[in-house]
Amino acid sequence: MYFPISRLRRFRKSPQIRDLVKDVHLNVNDFIYPLFVIYGKNKRIPVPSMPGVFQLSIDNLAREIEEVVKKGIKGVLLFGIPETKDAVGTGAYLADGIVQQGVWEIKKHFPELIVITDVCLCEYTDHGHCGVVEKGDVLNDPTLDLLTKTALSHVQAGADIVAPSDMMDGRVGAIRSALDQAGHIDIPVMSYAVKYASAFYGPFREAAESAPQYGDRKTYQMDPAASVKQALWEAAQDVEEGADYIIVKPAMAYMDIIQAVKEEVLCPVVSYNVSGEYSMVKGAAQKGWIDEKSIVLELMTGLKRAGSDLIITYHALDIATWLKEA
Ligand code: PBG
Repeated sequence: MYFPISRLRRFRKSPQIRDLVKDVHLNVNDFIYPLFVIYGKNKRIPVPSMPGVFQLSIDNLAREIEEVVKKGIKGVLLFGIPETKDAVGTGAYLADGIVQQGVWEIKKHFPELIVITDVCLCEYTDHGHCGVVEKGDVLNDPTLDLLTKTALSHVQAGADIVAPSDMMDGRVGAIRSALDQAGHIDIPVMSYAVKYASAFYGPFREAAESAPQYGDRKTYQMDPAASVKQALWEAAQDVEEGADYIIVKPAMAYMDIIQAVKEEVLCPVVSYNVSGEYSMVKGAAQKGWIDEKSIVLELMTGLKRAGSDLIITYHALDIATWLKEA
C-alpha cells in the first residue's frame, strides 16, 4: 500500500499518537553502572578522559552507591585498582583485595543492589595483560586457574554475578564448575563473550590503570573485521559452557553484532557502551557541539532496538535522572 492511500505521517501527528506506536521503551532497570574502586581514604579522583567518572575509595563508594540506589538503578559493575601489581595479578584474587572489599562494603549497606564484578587480571598484572605471560605470549590454560580463583573470591565477598572479561578460551566453563563445586550454583556468569580488540577502551585503561605495557590484546580479543559468524561462535561457546548473560562490547560500532547475537541466543544480551564511546559524547557535549541528553537517549534507544536487553554505561546515572524527569 503506497501514497496517497498510505500516509506514514499519520503515525507522527502528536506526542500521544507517537507514544501509541512507540516500540522501544527505555527503563531504568535496563542500565548497569560501572564503578572504579581504589585503596585509600576519602579519595574521589576524576578520570581526565572520562568527565563525570571517578576512582573512589571504599568510604566514598558507599556515598556514591546511595545516589545510585536513590535513582533506581538496580545493578553496578565493579572494577578495582590495586596498590601493587605483579606478574600473576595476585591482587585480583586476594580475599581482602580491593574489589572484594568494595563488594563487601556495598552489600553491607545495600544488600538488594545487584553487584556484578569484572573478572580479569589486567588491572593487577605489572605487564597489563589479561593473563599469565611467557616469552611475550599470553598463556590460555594456566590463566584459567587464576580467573577461577578471582571469580570465587568475588562471590565469597558477596558478589551477585561474575563477569569474566579476559577472553581466554574456556574460562566460562572453568568458572562455572568452580562455582558449582563451591556450592554457588545460583550465581550467574555474565560473560564478555563477544569482546573486540578495540581502541574504544583507551579512556578505561586510564581509569583502571590497565594499559598493556607492551604489545596489544589482539591475540585474545576479537578482530573488529572478523566475520559475524565468529561472534556467534564465541557467544554459542560461552552459552554451552554455562554463561547466563552474553555481553557484546563495544556497542555503537557493533550494533550489527548485537542484533545477530540477539537473534541467535536465548539468554539476555547485554551491550557495553564503553569508555571511548562515553568520552566522545562527553567531550563534544562539553564543547557545546551536541545536546548531551538527546544524544545519549537516542544512542540508548538504538542499542535497545538492536537487541540489547541490558546496557552497561557510564551514562547510567544521568539516564536514570532524565528518565525520572520525563
Ligand atoms: C578488562 C576490561 C576492559 C574493559 C572492561 N573490562 C579493558 C580492556 O579489555 O582493555 C573496557 C571497558 C571500557 O572501555 O569502558 N579486561
